[in-house]
Amino acid sequence: MRIAILGSGSVGSGLARGWSRLGHSVVIGSRAPESERLGDLVAEIGNGVQVTSLTESVVRADVVVLAVPWQAAEESVMVLGDLSGYTLIDATNPFVKGLNIGVNQDESGGELVAEWATGANVVKALNIVDARLLDGRKLDSRQISIPICGDDEDSKQIVIRLTAELGFDTVDAGSLSNSILLENLALLMIRLSMKKNLGNEIGFRVLRG
Ligand SMILES: NC(=O)c1ccc[n+]([C@@H]2O[C@H](COP(=O)([O-])OP(=O)(O)OC[C@H]3O[C@@H](n4cnc5c(N)ncnc54)[C@H](OP(=O)(O)O)[C@@H]3O)[C@@H](O)[C@H]2O)c1
Repeated sequence: MRIAILGSGSVGSGLARGWSRLGHSVVIGSRAPESERLGDLVAEIGNGVQVTSLTESVVRADVVVLAVPWQAAEESVMVLGDLSGYTLIDATNPFVKGLNIGVNQDESGGELVAEWATGANVVKALNIVDARLLDGRKLDSRQISIPICGDDEDSKQIVIRLTAELGFDTVDAGSLSNSILLENLALLMIRLSMKKNLGNEIGFRVLRG
């Protein structure tokens, strides 16, 4: 698949590494595509990964991944224009200062992203796993579960395939309105990691009866 990843930080670079290694065509969309840092990053990842501006990155993409800080999410999506027909994976968490959820509990970051991303089929995914595990290489036999939610069945199937390819156990968590549950779960995971000394590379697992 042709995957555009918006953001070149921990999440963006981890996903670029993982998916490009699996043979997907990855373009990173960055605010500073010409910078030395981005040049070094794509050289280090290899696998044909390219970097360009945010707007250019999505032109030939099948799937777009939003991997920027919450404060930059609206602006990063709005510059893309009409996204009709695109599958957009929202990997962000709407966290604000002090590690709190920055939206009301009766809405969610995922739904706000869907409002900004005109026409896109938004799937909330990959927000509940530490970025260091996202490229799949450190998972070993750990079956970390990734709940995803969205309103378009075809887009969800694409995201289920892409996350499973990285080695995760993907769980269909229903419609996009469930995003707030996934965002709260991410907050719990981070607090466990930071405040309870459970380490950096943690995730949740769903056991089936
Ligand atoms: N870190 C994790 O373990 C983790 C796991 C799951 C989900 N998330 C969520 O995923 C999103 C990205 O997290 P991250 O850890 O990858 O963040 P990060 O390391 O800080 O990287 C974010 C990237 O977004 C781009 N960006 C665009 N506008 C920006 C702005 N105003 N300020 C800073 N960066 C900006 C930057 O790329 P360019 O400079 O190339 O534009 C930057 O490298 C967040 O919403 C986070 O909550 C994080």
